[in-house]
Amino acid sequence: PSETGRVLSIQSHTVQGYVGNKSAVFPLQLLGYDVDPINSVQFSNHTDKLLLFFHSVSRALKPIIHNRMRCCVCRYPTFKGQVLNGQQLWELIEGLEGNDLLYYTHLLTGYIGSVSFLDTVLEVVSKLRSVNPKLIYVCDLVMGDEGKLYVPQELISVYRERVVPVTSMLTPNQFEAELLTGFRIQSENDGRKACNFLHEAGPSKVVITSINIDGNLLLVGSHAKEKGKPPKQFKIVIPKIPAYFTGTGDLMTALLLVWSNKYPDNLEIAAELAVSSLQALLQRTL
Ligand code: ATP
Ligand code: PLP
Ligand code: MG
Ligand code: NA
Ligand code: MG
Repeated sequence: PSETGRVLSIQSHTVQGYVGNKSAVFPLQLLGYDVDPINSVQFSNHTDKLLLFFHSVSRALKPIIHNRMRCCVCRYPTFKGQVLNGQQLWELIEGLEGNDLLYYTHLLTGYIGSVSFLDTVLEVVSKLRSVNPKLIYVCDLVMGDEGKLYVPQELISVYRERVVPVTSMLTPNQFEAELLTGFRIQSENDGRKACNFLHEAGPSKVVITSINIDGNLLLVGSHAKEKGKPPKQFKIVIPKIPAYFTGTGDLMTALLLVWSNKYPDNLEIAAELAVSSLQALLQRTL
């Protein structure tokens, strides 16, 4: 077990508010990690996951999305800012490489808005693994929530076919796990099945960070310790606070990175620690 590490964190930055790197970097530092953030976007404020891309969704996915769609609260009428492209990301990696600064224990990625950026992230994974073959890639596939897709639809298959196979730990929410596996997740058992399906594709650790059931949030975690043996699975029931928060998923994934690094053989303890920090923080935020 390790108490620390060096994390390359490729996520959004917002000037105001806490999502992406703004949610992840400080907690990681507080817990003793060296964090090198690359801001994949710099926006004035969070975008509240507008229904920007709903029109581009395929017919097959529309029923899933419609069924689960609730009211779309757009807290901010607008946002402004810049988006980093794949080539610009690669320039930063080349700069680090030129100075021998590419040794990382962990790569953490969050919201990625385009296929070309995601392609470059895949090149970053290979590059970092050529420097450190033991690199742990923790991927929060931020694709949507509550039935709303907030990335272009082409990203789904790239995540499924090319990203999932190279990840060490995945942290989808209910909707993202549905998009990846193609089946509805409405129970603990569905969650466990989705984890099994995702293990087959690559990652040995999967945490579905929330499934909405009966007014509670259900977390389902799964650790496939050895190929061919059944994974160790668990659940945590989280009382749902009747409020809407942003940045929780990003913080959750950062905390899972830390605690599963400290307890590499006990994902359940790691998830309990992450959930308890998050609940304390949400209570205080409220
Ligand atoms: P986000 O909704 O921020 O995109 P996500 O959907 O990827 O993130 P969630 O599973 O929704 O991630 O949230 C991550 C964690 O945050 C949950 O496991 C839970 O501990 C906590 N959380 C989020 N919202 C609430 C809430 N309303 N009440 C209680 N806990 C919450
Ligand atoms: N990145 C940006 C720019 C965002 O606007 C958001 C959410 O609004 C996120 C990432 C994701 O944050 P969350 O952890 O709430 O999924
Ligand atoms: Mg959520
Ligand atoms: Na998540
Ligand atoms: Mg999320």
